[in-house]
Amino acid sequence: MEAAQDAVDRIILGEASQHLAASAGAVVVLDDLSGGLVSGLPPLVGIRLHCDSYRSERAAVGVAQRLGLPVLVHPVLDRSLFTDARLVLLRLPKGLAALEEMAEVAAGAAHPDVLLVAGGRDKHMSRSMNAVLAKHFSDVSASYGQRKCRVLFARNPHGAAAAPSFPRRATHQDLDLRICAHGAAFAGTSIDLGTRFLVTFLDQMPASARSVIDLGCGTGVLATLLARRLPQAQVLAVDDSAAACRSTTMTAAANDVASQISVARADVIDPIADHSADLIVCNPPFHRGTTRDSSVAFEMFAGAGRVLRPGGELWTVFNSHLPYLRSLHRTVGPTTIVGRNSSYLATRSVAPGRS
Ligand SMILES: C[S@@+](CC[C@H](N)C(=O)[O-])C[C@H]1O[C@@H](n2cnc3c(N)ncnc32)[C@H](O)[C@@H]1O
Repeated sequence: MEAAQDAVDRIILGEASQHLAASAGAVVVLDDLSGGLVSGLPPLVGIRLHCDSYRSERAAVGVAQRLGLPVLVHPVLDRSLFTDARLVLLRLPKGLAALEEMAEVAAGAAHPDVLLVAGGRDKHMSRSMNAVLAKHFSDVSASYGQRKCRVLFARNPHGAAAAPSFPRRATHQDLDLRICAHGAAFAGTSIDLGTRFLVTFLDQMPASARSVIDLGCGTGVLATLLARRLPQAQVLAVDDSAAACRSTTMTAAANDVASQISVARADVIDPIADHSADLIVCNPPFHRGTTRDSSVAFEMFAGAGRVLRPGGELWTVFNSHLPYLRSLHRTVGPTTIVGRNSSYLATRSVAPGRS
């Protein structure tokens, strides 16, 4: 069964079709959402695939395997992905920093004749995207729209930047915290307001916790602050985003807590053993790409319920309008609101049974 292609996949594939013959057999595909791009490529093309999202990567690889398409997965967005590439297809990421890192790395390693075809929905596109591409390619233009989508073309790469702009780094003096961020990592070098609110409760989290998980770790803000507060604890930082995982590893090192933090790229919390964690912190996503979607948050709560040992605690934060309390009660355990402000609720859920 082929992956469903949406209108963005179709316009990218349509605009790229006449260039496939000149791609010299290797096409770079970035951020295929669920295999739609891969499924439209001819069998003789070698595909180098990088999806920031692990869930998307798994879906695209599954499609390629079903169709017998040769695909080489590059979990890291680095120069090897683009070496001598002549055709790069991508779905425009939500954030400009993510696009900028892709463009910078591609322009530094791809063949001088490379064509980058970046597609998105008109409502999610902005002139700033053209400007970001133009920092690294001399020739940037847009296609005509089709079904409320269009592509940006980028040609004539500038070559390698004198100094790579990623990861970006910033110091937050108030928390004595250094953050490192690759382009696609949530919140970049800033601290999300929900995370800031949850940080104010760190002192109330169980000091006896030894096995701690930061679920959806982003740049590793919570993992790092918890490692510092609980020097006896080991913290597992989990995220579906390759950029987030790389960022967390660097953030941990920049704050001298690398020995306490391990990082896993995973979908939700799937590889973690049942009843193995004392404490989980989570600021769950409520978007997937550009679409509002709470389903991953519910999966995270269910995963936390499975992974917490009896008496273990999940501390989470979310926009107060989101209907999460019932799910927390049902899938984790008795849940109390520990704090609220004008935008967020912070909650503590305790897994049933005695520790
Ligand atoms: C709201 S952000 C919070 C990030 C970080 N904890 C912070 O406080 O800045 C949610 C995080 O969940 C991650 N995420 C989204 N879907 C996921 C999934 N299926 N499995 C694991 N993590 C996921 C995102 O990549 C993002 O880093």
